[in-house]
Amino acid sequence: MFKKVKDLGNLKGKRVLVRVDFNVPIKSGEVAAGGEWRLKAVLPTLNYLSDHGAKIIILSHLGRPNGNDFGCSLYPIFESLKKIWRGENLFFSHDILGQAAQKQIKKLKNGQAILLENLRFYKEEEDNDDDFATELAALGDIFVNDAFAVSHRAHASIVGIPAHLQSYAGFLMEKEVSMLSVIRSKPRRPLVLVMGGAKAETKLKLVKEFLNKSEGMLLGGVLANTLLYSRGMSVGKSIVDEKLMEEARKLNLTSNNLHLPVDVVVSKSLERANNTVVRSMDRIGGDEFIVDIGPETIKLFTKIIKNARMVVWNGSLGLTEVPVFKNGSLAAARAVAESRGEKIIGGGDLIGFLSQENLLDKMTYVSTGGGAMLEFLAGEDLPGIRALES
Ligand code: 3PG
Repeated sequence: MFKKVKDLGNLKGKRVLVRVDFNVPIKSGEVAAGGEWRLKAVLPTLNYLSDHGAKIIILSHLGRPNGNDFGCSLYPIFESLKKIWRGENLFFSHDILGQAAQKQIKKLKNGQAILLENLRFYKEEEDNDDDFATELAALGDIFVNDAFAVSHRAHASIVGIPAHLQSYAGFLMEKEVSMLSVIRSKPRRPLVLVMGGAKAETKLKLVKEFLNKSEGMLLGGVLANTLLYSRGMSVGKSIVDEKLMEEARKLNLTSNNLHLPVDVVVSKSLERANNTVVRSMDRIGGDEFIVDIGPETIKLFTKIIKNARMVVWNGSLGLTEVPVFKNGSLAAARAVAESRGEKIIGGGDLIGFLSQENLLDKMTYVSTGGGAMLEFLAGEDLPGIRALES
């Protein structure tokens, strides 16, 4: 078990490095709808540290930049955070390891915080470079990981820093681990998993893990495309994950619990409804994109969801950013909201969507983790959590 923020002794004047996950959608230079949710989730830890007189140095990544890509700057996040957390006591540094950052850190008064620029501007972050981790660690006296959502990545700020500093789990990390551990060990039944979205890799692992341990597995998005394509079906121009083909072919798709779309909405454009039609799965044209699940699939999925005692959902079932492509996800979301069971959801896009549709507060538990939540539920040992335990 890890040490927790509450185990920290006197914090007055201590420099505390806090790793958070502020990887939220940015639109026109501002945090997009639904994105603030991840910011609010770490406020209990920031409040505690600030109230106990720590000097807080906040570390995060955003997106997958290639070097100093200012489209991925954390500055818009700083501006949003200022509005919801002690604005006058929060600062921003455009730099991480240079003298400018060090000067600003030195100037911090007890209880104040500074957000440093995107860690992934340094490639050493994702390489888990130990010199980089050592330099980051030197900025603080204590390390707190409150970034459950990126703790499935063995990156320098996640696993490297704890090798150099006394390390603790923040309140959000603690909550995520305790809530998701219950689901992992004692799920309520019928247990139904709904998985869609744009990333398929981690979800495929979860399908394998839970195929015989759940009563329903409802798939959409890139994962469904990939599985169908692996069986030689045409998915037109829709995205498939080529890397997963071999693994996808090995999966038993005939299990009664596994449900792929039986019909879908297709369009010739991803941005707008362009000759949108409903097609059965064997009739998708080579120049078409799958943009949503179809009406028959909606009927099937919502019926299964309504009977569930626990629903775990990650990734929307269509391209919800285009209003006409959101029907499947919206129908599923309403069915989840109405179901009598526990509703656990995760993944930034889905959280944003549910928040836009005013359905987020109908969920029993909203995890900040996307991939991390899935890996944790699949029984994997997350490197960031392991690093706190050693
Ligand atoms: C997430 O949003 O799921 C995490 O921040 C991880 O992001 P990554 O997939 O770019 O590592």
